Amino acid sequence: MRVLGIETSCDETGVAIYDSGRGLLGHALYSQVALHAEFGGVVPELASRDHVRKLIPLIRQVMAGADTPAGEIGGVAYTAGPGLIGALLVGAALGRSLAYAWGVPGLGIHHMEAHLLAPMLETPAPEMPFVALLVSGGHTMLVEVAALGRYRVLGETLDDAAGEAFDKTAKLLGLPYPGGPALAALAEQGTPGVFGFPRPMVGRPGLDFSFSGLKTAVMIAVNRIELDDTVRADVAAEFQQAVVDTLVVKCRRAMAQTGAGTLVVAGGVGANRALRTALKQEGVQQGWAVFYPRPEFCTDNGAMIAYAGMLRLRAGERAQLAIEARARWGLESLRPPGESRPD
Ligand code: KG4
Ligand code: ZN
Repeated sequence: MRVLGIETSCDETGVAIYDSGRGLLGHALYSQVALHAEFGGVVPELASRDHVRKLIPLIRQVMAGADTPAGEIGGVAYTAGPGLIGALLVGAALGRSLAYAWGVPGLGIHHMEAHLLAPMLETPAPEMPFVALLVSGGHTMLVEVAALGRYRVLGETLDDAAGEAFDKTAKLLGLPYPGGPALAALAEQGTPGVFGFPRPMVGRPGLDFSFSGLKTAVMIAVNRIELDDTVRADVAAEFQQAVVDTLVVKCRRAMAQTGAGTLVVAGGVGANRALRTALKQEGVQQGWAVFYPRPEFCTDNGAMIAYAGMLRLRAGERAQLAIEARARWGLESLRPPGESRPD
């Protein structure tokens, strides 16, 4: 089955075609970074308008590149939430309408489910059951994944998400939007440990996270001292190390608690090199297999939506004709294909 996937939950327009037999046939991403940069963050209305402008040309481009005329598409999957409601509605309305026009099933996909399945786009792919560390701009969670659609949230952030902490700290250091990758690049030039930032929540039992105290510690430090390039790099390095240490401790705990042998890491912060290296090393020491998608499939993309859609549509899942989009949507409310979702 060949599925067109559409992602428009935030500030990236992503489109892909995934074929159940042949794998990923094509994908493209249009990033709105330049559009939002002058505002220092995503402006929701501008994001929606830009999805309106870019989505159809991007779909045409991906279909042509994948040599896939409409008649060969067997289903359309689109991100239905969680995310910015206007942005989601652009992809959901177009995805649903294309499915109707082409006479194929359409399905709304949970953005975080797609993130946690993204490592399965790679070879070798992880096999379920596994534990997923989902670290994005909006979410930080540890999830026990028993099977497609069977998810238990083991812990999540009580305040800022890991990506949000990266972005806010980057702003404090005067780095341009989007802050996460810029802060990670600066961290590579600095020395962790020159500043001493807390490792939030590691001393407490449980699997929840909290990053706002870390952000405050950075704010206090940068207000006390004159910032030059070396200081900024050292702050960035210690901040990144504090986030990485915290995530590693919580992953270790989640793996011990569940007895899982496989960890997958996904979401935008999963592209962070220091985190990838630390978790790989931890995996070697502890005897777990650790899987990541390539960095471009950690951040938002259409491939993960096409893939999640293919898995669910191939298993026979079907949705109503109504256009569905939800700004908030709990991961645990999902069900395996074939079992109806509680609303
Ligand atoms: O998954 P994603 O693309 O969008 C959401 O669903 O939120 O994640 C975006 C987040 C942003 O906060 C961004 O700064 C962060 O991921 N990010 C990074 C890196 N690349 C993206 N954070 C740290 N290091 C990176 N290399
Ligand atoms: Zn995302």
